[in-house]
Parts: sequence; structure tokens; C-alpha cells
Amino acid sequence: MSRVLIRGGRVLDPSTNRDETADLLIEDGLVAAIGASLSSADAEVVDASGRWVAPGFVDVHVHLRAPGQEYKEDLASGGRAAVAGGYTALCCMANTEPVNDDPSVTQFILDRAEKESPARIFPIAAATRGLKGEVMTEMAALKDAGAVAFSDDGATIMDAAVMRHVLEYSTLVSAPVVVHAEDCGLRAGGVMNEGVMSTRLGLPGNPVESEEIHVARDIRLARLTGARLHIGHVSAGGSVELIRRAKEEGLAVTAEVTPHHLSLTDEATQNFDTNTKMAPPLRTQKDVDILRRALVEGVIDCIATDHAPHADYEKAVEFSAAPFGVIGLETAFAIASDLYRTGEITPLQLMERMSTAPARIFELVGGGFEVGQQADVVILDPDQKWSYDAADGFSKSRNSPWSGLELTGRIEATFVQGRLVYQAEKGVVTQ
Ligand code: DOR
Ligand code: ZN
Repeated sequence: MSRVLIRGGRVLDPSTNRDETADLLIEDGLVAAIGASLSSADAEVVDASGRWVAPGFVDVHVHLRAPGQEYKEDLASGGRAAVAGGYTALCCMANTEPVNDDPSVTQFILDRAEKESPARIFPIAAATRGLKGEVMTEMAALKDAGAVAFSDDGATIMDAAVMRHVLEYSTLVSAPVVVHAEDCGLRAGGVMNEGVMSTRLGLPGNPVESEEIHVARDIRLARLTGARLHIGHVSAGGSVELIRRAKEEGLAVTAEVTPHHLSLTDEATQNFDTNTKMAPPLRTQKDVDILRRALVEGVIDCIATDHAPHADYEKAVEFSAAPFGVIGLETAFAIASDLYRTGEITPLQLMERMSTAPARIFELVGGGFEVGQQADVVILDPDQKWSYDAADGFSKSRNSPWSGLELTGRIEATFVQGRLVYQAEKGVVTQ
């Protein structure tokens, strides 16, 4: 029997509200016990004193680019970036080439992930064929093939009747629908937030209304259909009120926010850095303040990275021509844990937003330390400083707005099913 004893850390398990110094014992990949002074006989001992020991992070919104765009990322490199960022499970979006709108693509991703990725990977299938927003996919067949949710992320389903049918069918397969809320007409050629900054830079803007209108519409359609609606990457403060009211009404509406929307504003674009270009765009300080508060209050349920790798040569063009998206798996905890260091969020709440809540919403394994369950664990130092250079990262791409900066909050080690897959000094451990 293989035994690992993670000794003396601050064990944070939001699923049971546990926050105490304790040992965590893993046996044959499963959580065997949590408690004081557990026996270490035959166990490999990991000293976690002064560190946080939490359930592995779960990212419900990443772009892993396989199949078809493996020059940006693949399931191996994306999986390595994930575990280096403390993530043990990922849900990958369907805007691949070909699109994941067919069970054969879902199956391909799962087969490859099993062989290549140190993190668990759960595909999100397209809601409409080719992400065109016109004809629904075969949701039951995709679910049977292993899809955990449905989304046209990257594109917005503009036809409300199509969206209604997607939501109706999602209730039959009992899976959440993830909405990318940006009105195509209002967004048009917008490349950043519409406001003072876009005017000053002379760049076409994308107003907050492009998001708010779709959040409002889709909440109404969730009410009409009874479906589980998950709102992807909320960027506008105005969306938060709509989500709050939907929850008060008892609708099955959940939402996520990215580390970049929690920490950066459109001011970051002042030097035309294409690594500040993503969809939806960075908004204003007022929006950031509202999003932070909403995450702390639980109106926004979880943090998701929207990890969106692009090659150097694609981003090294004029701002308007660059593709939307930034990578985020390896820096998410450092950026998000600022909320802890400022005193806005408690450690237990932060771990809930990064692990327990996303696992619950998407019904994935993980998100807690239940005895007998698979041991997906992250060991963290929330106060440790480290230098981040995207060129040294595990992702194939480097399009990060934080590259070259000193960050605070470091991943010490990551275990998937009890197996050490990442260690700060050694890097990704392959066996
Ligand atoms: O910034 C983004 N990048 N937003 C999206 O909706 C798509 C994503 C991508 O696939 O690159
Ligand atoms: Zn996305």
C-alpha cells in the first residue's frame, strides 16, 4: 500500500468548513484520515508546516486547443500548466478545430487527456453545431461520451429561441449551460472596454451593455426553462445585480469571474499590450470593485481562468489585429490570493471559490477531503514571493499580462489521486 502523510499544514476544506492545523493521510490515492499526529509508519512524509493544504483547484473554463491548434497548447502542456498552478481538474471549452460538437471529438479529448495530462480533464461540448448558434448539438450523445456541460464559449448564441431550446434540452441531460455573454452587434469591432480609455487610445470599444443584455436575457430564459445556467467570465459590475436577483428568486443561476477581471482595468491597455486583450474586455475600477465584492459574498460563485493560449507571433501584432485571450493557469492563485492578503476574503472562502464551488456546480470529483474519496490536494504558501516569467512556464504560450512581474502566493505541491504531480523545486513530476 502506498501512503503519503502531509504533515502539520493548515488544512482548509470548505466542504466541511474545516480550518485547522492537521495531518492529511493518503492511502492508495484516497483520503484515509485527517487529524492530529497521524501515524507516519511506511508513509512518505511531506512537511506542510506554515502552508495551506487544500483540495486541488478546479478550473471550469480553459481553452486547451486540442484537437487542431496544438501549436498554442495541448492536453499535455495545458495539464502541466494546470498542476503547476495548483489545479487538479479542468473543464475545456469546445472552440477547438474541429469544434467539440461531436461525440468522437469528446472521446478523443478524453482519450488523449488520460494518456497525456497530469490533471483531470472534463470536456465541455458545444451547444450548437460549429458554434454557429443555429442548430443544437446532439446533447445526449455528447453527455454519454463524457461532456460535463455545454457551451458555445468564444461565441454568443444570438438567437434567443435557439438559446431557449439549448436550455430546455440541457435539463433533459441535467448538465449546466455556460454562457458567453457578449452581444455580437454591440460588440461589433470592439477590442477593449468602451469608455474614456478607448476614446483616448482611439480603439473601438465594447460597452458593458453587450454583456448585461445577454446576462439579463439568459436569466429570463433560465426562468422559463428551469435550466442550470452558468455565466462565464463576468466582467461588468452591472451583471452582478442581475445575478444577485436571479439567485434571490431561486433560479439555478451560477457565475464565474477570472483573475484578470478581478485585478486589472482598461488602464492596463494604455501601452497597447496585446496581453491585455481578451473577451470580455478589462473594464473599470468600479467594475473590479463590484466583482471582488460579489465573489466574496458568493453572488459570483467561483474563479475560473479562461486560460486562452495564443502563439507569440499571433499576439505580436497591432492591438486591433491580435486575438482575444490570456493564459492564466499558472498565475491564478497568486492573483486571486490578493483578496486574502488585503483581508477581503478568508482562506476558507478563497479555497471554496477555487475548488469546492466549481466542483459542485459542474458535479466533478474533488472540491473536498472526504475520507474514501480521491486525494486531489494542493499545498500553498499564500505569502511567498516568486518571479513569474511566462517563457519559463509550462504552457506552450506566453500571452500573460503578468509575465516579468514578482507575484505573491505560490504553489508548493500538487497531488492528483494521491500522486505528486508538481513540486515547486522539481517542477512537474512525471512518472
Ligand atoms: O479572450 C478570449 N479568448 N475570450 C474568448 O471568448 C475566447 C478565448 C479564446 O478561445 O481564445
Ligand atoms: Zn473562454
